[in-house]
Amino acid sequence: MPKRILSGVQPSGKLHLGNYFGAIQQHIALQDGDYERFYFIADFHALTTVQNAPLLRDYIKGVAIDYLALGLDPAKSVFFRQSDVPEVQEIAWMFSCVTGMGLLERAHSYKDKIAKNIKPTVGLFYYPLLMAADILIYKPHLVPVGQDQVQHVEMTQDMAGYFNQTFKCNVFIRPEARMGQAPKVPGVDGEKMSKSYGNTIDLQMDGKELKKVVMGVKTDSTPVEQAKNPDTCNVFALYALFANDDEKAALAARYKAGGMGYGDAKKLLLDKVSDYFGPYRQKRAELVARPDYVEDVLREGAKRAREVARATLSEAKTACGLA
Ligand code: ADP
Ligand code: TRP
Repeated sequence: MPKRILSGVQPSGKLHLGNYFGAIQQHIALQDGDYERFYFIADFHALTTVQNAPLLRDYIKGVAIDYLALGLDPAKSVFFRQSDVPEVQEIAWMFSCVTGMGLLERAHSYKDKIAKNIKPTVGLFYYPLLMAADILIYKPHLVPVGQDQVQHVEMTQDMAGYFNQTFKCNVFIRPEARMGQAPKVPGVDGEKMSKSYGNTIDLQMDGKELKKVVMGVKTDSTPVEQAKNPDTCNVFALYALFANDDEKAALAARYKAGGMGYGDAKKLLLDKVSDYFGPYRQKRAELVARPDYVEDVLREGAKRAREVARATLSEAKTACGLA
């Protein structure tokens, strides 16, 4: 069996620097390795928070275009919509019958979301089960994600074990989470950057909008003339995502020397963000004008993903006596 990489991103808003440096950059970089790659738009998951049909459709389309504009190559990766593979729901049910409530009750993401006033629906609670199903159904070895998703991947490993042990089989394999160089990108307020916290720098931002957001990154109130600490500064942390070692050392030296205001560091950051994502913005504009192409890519991807999903579902049904 070929070794596989699998990951997904929720279409719950516009993609931001955290999504890119935490997850998508790894997804694209891994395209040239030995593994088979499956990447999907987790639209079933997004339904836990986006409950407006035109908006969800728009976000799904947006994430599809973003991935392609950022360099996803459909000849190298199977790229599809999660909901085009309904077999995932059947497997999720099977996992729900072998998984204790306690495991889900420990999920940080669920607790964080209800603390942020997201409605505590059954779906929100069940989210890690659906995620385990949409991972394990493709039998991947690696799941590249940001830090916030690692617990979900660990729960997925547990669920693979529960199923195999309960039904004395070997249907599911244990995937490993893989974090990139930036597993927790800070938002403009210093908290984890997240669509649901309103603290993002979006990949699509440019011009005045980008300037306003970058200039608003939270800093401490150290006066201009005093030395500053790059290691605790959000602006520096964001700049470090783009800069090479010499550039980072040069800016760190200016922080430590004093005499530099945070505004200067923010301008350097602004130029980096704007330049880095320039080619992406151009490619994105081209793809927006080709909706049929984008749809064809997703349909073709779903066909390939579904073949794998059907085969695993059939094995799982046999293992538990449903077929
Ligand atoms: P959000 O929190 O904005 O809703 P998602 O949950 O859709 O983002 O995450 C998609 C991918 O991006 C996941 O692999 C997640 O771990 C990663 N990710 C999200 N935010 C960050 C961040 N601030 N730093 C690093 N990775 C992140
Ligand atoms: N829960 C993930 C997130 O919020 C999205 C996701 C759904 C996912 N299914 C997945 C990520 C499978 C990796 C693998 O980012």
